[in-house]
This record gives sequence, C-alpha cells and structure tokens, in this order.
Amino acid sequence: MDSISRRDFARTASLATAASYSRILGANDRVRMGFIGLGNRGDQVHDGFLEHGDSQTMAVCDLREDYLDFAVKKSRGTPTRYKDYKKVLDDKNVDAVAIATPDHWHALMFVDACHAGKDVYVEKPLSLTVSEGRRMVEVAEQTKRVTQVGIHRRSGKFLMEAVDYVRSGALGTISLAKSFHIQNEWPNGLGAAPDGPLPSDFDWDQWLGPAPKVPYNRNRAFYNFRWFYNHSGGQLTNFGVHYMDMLRWALGKESPKAVVAMGGRYAGIKDNREIPDTLEVMWDFGGMMMIFCCYDANAAKGCATGAEMEIRGTKGTLYLYGNRWEVVPESITERTFGARTPLDRVTERSYGGSKKTVIEPKSAKGSADTAFHARNFLDCIKSRKKCNCDILIGHISTSNTLIGNIAHKTKSYLEWDGKTERFTNNAAANKFLQYQYRAPYKLG
Ligand SMILES: NC(=O)c1ccc[n+]([C@@H]2O[C@H](COP(=O)([O-])OP(=O)(O)OC[C@H]3O[C@@H](n4cnc5c(N)ncnc54)[C@H](O)[C@@H]3O)[C@@H](O)[C@H]2O)c1
Repeated sequence: MDSISRRDFARTASLATAASYSRILGANDRVRMGFIGLGNRGDQVHDGFLEHGDSQTMAVCDLREDYLDFAVKKSRGTPTRYKDYKKVLDDKNVDAVAIATPDHWHALMFVDACHAGKDVYVEKPLSLTVSEGRRMVEVAEQTKRVTQVGIHRRSGKFLMEAVDYVRSGALGTISLAKSFHIQNEWPNGLGAAPDGPLPSDFDWDQWLGPAPKVPYNRNRAFYNFRWFYNHSGGQLTNFGVHYMDMLRWALGKESPKAVVAMGGRYAGIKDNREIPDTLEVMWDFGGMMMIFCCYDANAAKGCATGAEMEIRGTKGTLYLYGNRWEVVPESITERTFGARTPLDRVTERSYGGSKKTVIEPKSAKGSADTAFHARNFLDCIKSRKKCNCDILIGHISTSNTLIGNIAHKTKSYLEWDGKTERFTNNAAANKFLQYQYRAPYKLG
C-alpha cells in the first residue's frame, strides 16, 4: 500500500472537511454568491463583488422589493430573489453569502450561514454584544468557514504600507493614537419622527428580528438605526470600529487593559436619537493609550490636520486620511525638561539653533476600495486561507468598541481581561456583554 505523508494526510483531511460542507473551488471557478441586506452598504458590497468576473450573484435577499429589483438589474444573470434569508442558506447554488443587514441581525445570520456550510462576508461592526461575537468566532472555527468582516481598510495596499511603516519603529516610542468622527448634526439631526405609520408592504417584525419589539419609527429603520442602541452601538461601533481596527493593526495591539468614556446628548439636537452627540472614549493598552472622539454637534477639525486618525510617536506623527497618509516629523532639541532656573533659561537660549528633525517626512496615497476586500474573500474561499479581516480580528476590534459603550453606560473605569472577555473590577458591567433575544430567536 502507498504510504501517505503527514502533510498529505492533513491536507486530504482538511479538504474532506471543507467538502462535507461545501464544494471545493479551483482558481478559475466562479464563487456563487448570495447577498443578504441590499440597502446602503449591501449595494456597495454587491458592487465590490460585481467588479470580479469570478463572482456570480446567485441570490439576493432583502425585505424591500425595490432594493431587490435594483440588485437583480445590476447582476450578471438572473439571481433568485428572497425575503427570508434562511432560504438563501438552503439554496444549494450558493457557496458564500455577504451579510449587510443592521447590526442586531449579524450574529444570527452569520451563525446560521456557517451551519449551512456557506463562507461568510459580514459587515462591521461584527456584533451588537461581545458574547455574540465570541459565539461567531467559535462557530466559524467549528464549521471551518472562510470569513471576512467588512472592515475593508485591511485590504487597502497603501494602508498595509502605513502599517509596515509604523511597525518599523520609525515613529519612535508611540504613546498615543487618536481617531475622530466629526460632523455637525445640529439643529435637526434625524428630524422629528413620531411612531408609525408602518409602510404597507414592509415586514417590521422581520426587520426587528431578535431585537426588542418597539413600534415602527422611520428614524429607526433604513440607515438611521445607527442612532439607536437596540440596533447598533452608535458612531463608536459604526465609524469607531474602523479606526480601532486600523490603529490596533498598525500598533500590533489586541485587547485593552481598561476603558473609560464620557459624553452625552448635550447639544439639544431635535430628534429621538439615543446615542450621544458628544463622546470621548479612552483605552489603556498598557504602554500607550487610544482615544476615540465623536463630535456630532460641531464640525471643526478634531486633529490639527483634519485627519481621521493620528499615531503619535516621540519622533513623529502619522496622520491617516481616507485615501492617503503622511508622516510629520517632530522637531526636537536635546534640551532637558524639568525645573527652571535663570541659568537653565540661558542654556535653553544657547540651544536656539539646534532644533532638528530625526526622521524624514513621508506620505502615500491609495484607496481602500471595498472591491479589494471582496477580492481577498474570493481568493480565500478558493485557498481556504484566512482573510485579511477574519472573524477573530473583527471580533476583537468590535469588542474593544463595545466595551467603550459599556463604560459610558455604567459611568465607570472598567478593567478588561481580553482572554476571558470579562470586566474584572465591575461585576454589574458584565451583564451588558450580552442581551436577551426576543422569542423565538436563539443563537445557534
Ligand atoms: N464597511 C463599511 O464601511 C460600512 C458602511 C456602511 C454600513 N456598514 C454596515 O452595513 C450594515 C447595513 O448598514 P446600511 O447602512 O446598509 O443599512 P440599510 O438600512 O441601508 O440597509 C440594511 C438592509 O438590510 C435589510 N434587512 C433588514 N432586516 C433584514 C432581514 N431580516 N432579512 C433581509 N434583509 C433585511 C433592510 O431591508 C435594508 O435594506 C450595518 O451593519 C453597517 O454598520 C458598513
């Protein structure tokens, strides 16, 4: 009998496991995609996949007929239309799904998709709670699914170069990384919206899914759910998760040791939002801190240059924008800081001309197009490798932002154990790591 090497055996075993769930794809095969949630972001994600000839839209799913019409029209071929996502998961012609529904649906749809043997692209923030995210990681591992979380900066080549630059140590010792979400929503914000009336052909109960039953309000549905905690973590998990992820990627960080937050609805914006219009969250990463600033009632620049993110080192600062980054060197002297005497002042003066920069300015441009992230997912479906933003990466980045909301809610300085995913100094805060789904919903 032919002998079989350990490597061949491991490979055959892993292929057999993948085959038991789904078909094995070669480099030239088309990936047959199902798209669940085709609103604002779902449409962008669909476009990102349509850029690749080896992506075939086989199924589209949304609660809105007009969104389905639009998605079918732009697809190659004629995808099957569904309103019930479980039917997409039952569809044997679908290899993988992209989920871009509101955040409160991500965990259920993701876990069901994994159990149905589909590889999954799921939008950020990964989950509404930390414990949902942990379960998503477990199920993805158990079912050996290829997963991509829609934190698409991870597939931007120019950002990979920024990460290499930061990790080279060129910025010196980094003590602070900061990010900003800034826009002025005063005076009317989402506008005044009384509850009801429910649009005649719209299944509000299915939109709510596992979230608590509340009357239909147009400010909650379609895009605006971001301003309500039953459906989202507000701008901290909406924009903040992109920034948290980018910064911890560049800095090689995982979970923080502690988090604290302060903010509120201070500006009198005339709408029924629940999230703060002004919020700052700080994370202690041991040896450095991160800060997220969310100012939604004033649009003046947050960072000196108007960048979205800044990484401050002893030798320079790296500023990150949507499509470029730049390094601004520090001007330093050899002066020693501390108690001043008249003699020190004389010494300082003698250093007048000695200010110098110790690193070169540097900059790069590029794009973090969603199509790159889709490309990486399609490639990984074929190679069975981990995607640039696989489930665990997305879970840690999302969790770091979710615990910021818990610090804000509990008005506490919270110490966090990233291994057990529990707060160690505040038992009451741990109860916000999960929430009770509305019956009959259950996470598998
Ligand atoms: N990666 C990014 O940069 C980025 C950008 C925007 C949004 N997002 C994420 O995408 C997700 C969707 O946000 P959006 O702005 O597209 O919201 P949206 O309201 O425009 O779209 C959500 C869609 O999901 C559909 N839907 C809701 N429940 C459903 C169900 N049970 N079955 C099928 N369809 C259902 C809705 O009908 C709607 O069309 C959010 O999690 C958001 O954070 C990511």
